[in-house]
Amino acid sequence: MSHDDFPTEDPAVVTCGLPYANGDLHIGHLRTYVGGDVFARSLERLGQETAFVSGSDMHGTPVAVNAEQAGVSPEAFALDWHEQYAATFPEFNVAFDNYGHTHDETNTAVTQDLVRDLEAGGHVYEKEIMVAYDPVDDQFLPDRYVEGTCPYCGAHARGDECDEGCQRHLEPGEVEDPVSTISGNPAEYRERTHKFFEVSAFADYLSGFLDRLEGTSNARNQPREWIEQGLQDWCITRDMDWGIDYPGENPQDLVLYVWVDAPIEYVSSTKQYTERVGADVFDWEAAWKAGAAGTTEDHPDGGEIVHVIGRDIIQHHTVFWPAMLEATGHTEPRAVMASGFVTLGGKGFSTSRDRAVWADEYLDEGFHPDPLRYYLATNGGFQQDVDFSWEKFRDRVNTELVGTVGNFLYRSLLFAHRNYDDAPIADATSDEVAARIDEAIADFEAAVNDYSIRAVGDAVTDLARYGNEYIQRNEPWKLVDEDPDEAARVIHDCVAIAKAIAVLFEPIAPEKCERLWDQLGEAGSVHDVTVEAARAEPAGDLAEPDELFEQVEDDRVEELNAKLEDRVAAAEADDEPGADGESDDDTTDDDTTDDDTADDMTDIEPLSDDRISFDQFQELDIRVGRIETAEGIDGADDLLELRVDLGAETRTIVAGLKRLHDADDLPGTKVVVLANMEKAELFGVESNGMVLAAGDEADLLTTYADAGPGTKVR
Ligand code: MSP
Ligand code: ZN
Repeated sequence: MSHDDFPTEDPAVVTCGLPYANGDLHIGHLRTYVGGDVFARSLERLGQETAFVSGSDMHGTPVAVNAEQAGVSPEAFALDWHEQYAATFPEFNVAFDNYGHTHDETNTAVTQDLVRDLEAGGHVYEKEIMVAYDPVDDQFLPDRYVEGTCPYCGAHARGDECDEGCQRHLEPGEVEDPVSTISGNPAEYRERTHKFFEVSAFADYLSGFLDRLEGTSNARNQPREWIEQGLQDWCITRDMDWGIDYPGENPQDLVLYVWVDAPIEYVSSTKQYTERVGADVFDWEAAWKAGAAGTTEDHPDGGEIVHVIGRDIIQHHTVFWPAMLEATGHTEPRAVMASGFVTLGGKGFSTSRDRAVWADEYLDEGFHPDPLRYYLATNGGFQQDVDFSWEKFRDRVNTELVGTVGNFLYRSLLFAHRNYDDAPIADATSDEVAARIDEAIADFEAAVNDYSIRAVGDAVTDLARYGNEYIQRNEPWKLVDEDPDEAARVIHDCVAIAKAIAVLFEPIAPEKCERLWDQLGEAGSVHDVTVEAARAEPAGDLAEPDELFEQVEDDRVEELNAKLEDRVAAAEADDEPGADGESDDDTTDDDTTDDDTADDMTDIEPLSDDRISFDQFQELDIRVGRIETAEGIDGADDLLELRVDLGAETRTIVAGLKRLHDADDLPGTKVVVLANMEKAELFGVESNGMVLAAGDEADLLTTYADAGPGTKVR
């Protein structure tokens, strides 16, 4: 079954992975929230009825452990963070329709109902298991309350995951030599009865579900391996006070595992939205109820559910959660968009070691939120890890936002305002420009249906690039004296392009586009229009424009780098063996991304002393290309067959890019090609050129400004 393209007749719900209410937000988290917001706004621009929801994740040991260290109750601790998050998201123009939390009444009731339904369906059973227990403090030690040795690799591990070693999820009872993280007391194992959800019974359903699932390919492919390896049933209760009580018979006073009630907040938050605005505006049941329990005749399959998350929580969203939804008559997710991680110097962010760029720090430095949104949304494919640096941030802002988009808008609107003031400028947009705007709208629609927020950005930067070329080609500043009517026509076209940019760029830069909308003299808010508005003739009632985006100056970058380097160095010192590290309290730590990248750095080949002449270099015909299509090759694990536009012609090139790059993300990407490489046949495909990439994993080289396909690299 394949899904109809967006926009559909069914209501959509876009959700973001809930932040644990236990510490400051960093720009890694923002990749989930900006990503979700851009996607939800893009759907709305297409005219799709959409609710955008999330909430704070209040339960579980990630919150309880930090609250205990802070010496406050988990509830007070989590509520405090919840309020901070609720205030922070709007500052980044992340505009949830509803932002709840997992401990509120709605989620408690919806969760308990859903678990009762799971039980009624015969999907829950009891089992005796061994759980860690602190005999001195008389306390059970679930998940992060206990640490010890990983039984698989011998590394130091948390109770629920081997975070410093082999990364395996650990079930209760598995960690060896258990010690309480709270008291430091050695723990023992005690037998307890716990509730299990029979996920294994859903293996067939899940494999069909993954065939239907849209979104990023990591979310479709990784769970297939887990299913093939055999699904384990899932322990859904914990020996804790903090959490939602297991409903029904509960002699041991168990609470639900945090990963049960957390995704249910997606449903609860949508329900709260309906309760606030009315079912005629958005009907949560039409979106979430499906199958046998479907209550809405108009939407028997429910709505379009799209989950936006980071790649660390794919398993929860593509195995446990869809099985829970299927077992209880709820709508299955249509898509899961799982982002790569944001890293720093190739290493994961670390909350406790202060190795991060913090969300409020970015704003305190005086930056506008929209440039960060642009950077996070468009820097690489959504699935790729992004190593944050202020230089890269500056380059993207200065070349694309300021140099391409801002430059086009300012020069054309200033010219229009100066010469035509607020008079209507011409009758109609030219056929050429109207067709180019249609193309940009088509690119935008395709980007949304590909779940590529980067391509949403490309649709706009490409249009602005065209705008710059158009104004340069037509030189209205010359025409204004020679042929004022023609000048008016050209400038009208530019205003039409500017209007289309306002509409299509709104998802990425909502606040800046609203200002542009005002400068264009358009009525109402750009947040309320659909892409059709990009086709409509501009109002022409222009206000004096100002420059929409500001340059990031080099001395600012130096200053910010210096701060960041100090911080990273301090964090590194903390990482040294024997240092007084705090790895145990690092509950929002992303150290799991301490991946190969860091090791690669120590393994740099020496620079060659074998010099070549300039003439020898001239023999290399190196060109800018643009990938048109990318497909796997049967039998070749690392290779992709690319069609690459080299300006003069489009070539087939085979490239070993599969390790780091997803085929779906590549079309539209600019690459650097050695065009006069000798031809070679690889797995039966003739490769006519070589795409340049760095390192064993093949990190693609690209260009950052306007150089189009065919441009020679010198
Ligand atoms: N509470 C769980 C999610 C429950 S969803 C039902 C959780 N919380 S979190 O605070 O650790 O992460 C919140 C979101 O931020 C998740 O989508 C997570 O993947 C994302 N990220 C956290 N750190 C990140 C980076 N460094 N980079 C990119 N995304 C990251 O997980
Ligand atoms: Zn391990």
